[in-house]
Amino acid sequence: MAEKTEKRKAEHIRICLNEKAQARNATAGFEDIQFIHRALPEIDKQKIDSSTKIFGHKFSAPIIVGAMTGGTSEATRINAAIAEAVEKLQLGMGVGSQRAAIEDAKLGKTFAVARKKAPTAFLIANIGGVQLVHGYGIKEVKKTIEMIDADAVAIHLNALHEAVQPEGQTNFKGVLAKIGEVAGELDKPVIVKETGAGIAAEDAKKLEAAGVKAIDVGGTGGTSFAAVEYYRSEMNSVQQFLGDAFWDWGIPTVVSLTETTQAVKIPVIASGGVRSGMDVAKALALNACLASVSQPALQAAAKGAKDTENKLSLLIEELRNVMFLVGAEKVRDLAKTPIVVTGKTAEWLKTRGFNVENYAKRGAR
Ligand SMILES: Cc1cc2nc3c(=O)[nH]c(=O)nc-3n(C[C@H](O)[C@H](O)[C@H](O)COP(=O)(O)O)c2cc1C
Repeated sequence: MAEKTEKRKAEHIRICLNEKAQARNATAGFEDIQFIHRALPEIDKQKIDSSTKIFGHKFSAPIIVGAMTGGTSEATRINAAIAEAVEKLQLGMGVGSQRAAIEDAKLGKTFAVARKKAPTAFLIANIGGVQLVHGYGIKEVKKTIEMIDADAVAIHLNALHEAVQPEGQTNFKGVLAKIGEVAGELDKPVIVKETGAGIAAEDAKKLEAAGVKAIDVGGTGGTSFAAVEYYRSEMNSVQQFLGDAFWDWGIPTVVSLTETTQAVKIPVIASGGVRSGMDVAKALALNACLASVSQPALQAAAKGAKDTENKLSLLIEELRNVMFLVGAEKVRDLAKTPIVVTGKTAEWLKTRGFNVENYAKRGAR
C-alpha cells in the first residue's frame, strides 16, 4: 500500500515537472483584477513593510509554498530545498500528504527534513480529508504534526482528483463531521485546503461552523490534477477520458477567494495559479491573508535551494513594487486599496450574488 502511494506521488512530481499539467482553457482570474495606479504614492519604497502575522507567527512576506511532496528520495531533496529557502526568507511551507509515512514510519524522514532545514519557519502538516472518512482520526493527524513539528495542519479536499483516478477513494460521506471532530480536539490550527478545484461560499461557511481556523481556496487556474491523471493514464482508458473532460473543472481561484472572504470571518489563503508577486498583491487586495505557490516552487526546488530562494525573492520584490505603486506601506493597506473587478470573474460573482463594486469604492485618499 505504502509502495503504491509512493509510486503515485513520484509520478505526480515527474508529471508536474515535465508535462503541461496546468489549466488549459480556464484561468485563475487574476487578469480580471486591476489596481489603480497612484502617480502620488506619497510613500518611500524602501520603507514598505511586507511582513504579516497570522496564527501568531510573523512572516517576512505573505507568501507560503503549498503542499506538494514527501515519501521518496527526490521528494526529500525537494522538501529540503523549499525548507532552506523559506527559512532564509522567513516564509512558510506545507509538506505533501503524509499518508505514506503513516503507513510506513520509515518514510517519516522524507517529510521531517523540512523541519530540519527550517527550524523556525511556519510549517504545515498535511493529510487527506477522505482519509478521515476511511479510518484516520485524531491520532493520525497528531502523528502528521509531530513528524515535522508543524505549526498547523492542512486537511486537503480533492474530490476531483479522487474521481478521475482509477484507484481514487470517492466516498466523501461524513467528511465535514470528521473535519469538525479533528478541529475541535487539536491544539494546532486546522486549515482546510482544496487542491485545484476551489471552495464555494456554501462550503466555506460549513467549514467555518465546523471549527476550522483557516481556509485555503486551492482554486482552478493553476495545477490541474485532472491533467495529472490524464498524463498518468493509458491510451483510450476511462482515466484518460475523464482527465481530459475535467481538465479545467472547478471554481477559478479569484472567484473562490472572493466568495470565501465575503462568506466567512476566518483567514483565507489564496492558491491555485498564483504565479507572480502581482497575483499575490491582488489576492491580498481581495482579503486573502497569505498567498500560496506550488508548481513554480516545485520547478525551482528541482534545481535547488538557491533557485527556490531566488524565485521566492522575485515574488516578494514584485509584491513590494505593487505596494509602492498603489501607495500601500503595509500589507494590510492592500485590503483597503481600490481595485476594479472586470470580465468573466465579475460576471460570475454578480450572478452568484456577491458584491464586486465595493472594492472599487473603498479607501480613496
Ligand atoms: C506535485 C504536486 C503534488 C501535490 N500534492 C499535494 C498533497 O499531497 N496535498 C495537498 O494538499 N496538495 C497537494 N498539491 C496541491 C497544491 O498544494 C496546490 O493546491 C495546487 O498545486 C495548486 O497550486 P499551484 O497552481 O500553485 O500549483 C500538490 C501539487 C503538486 C504540483
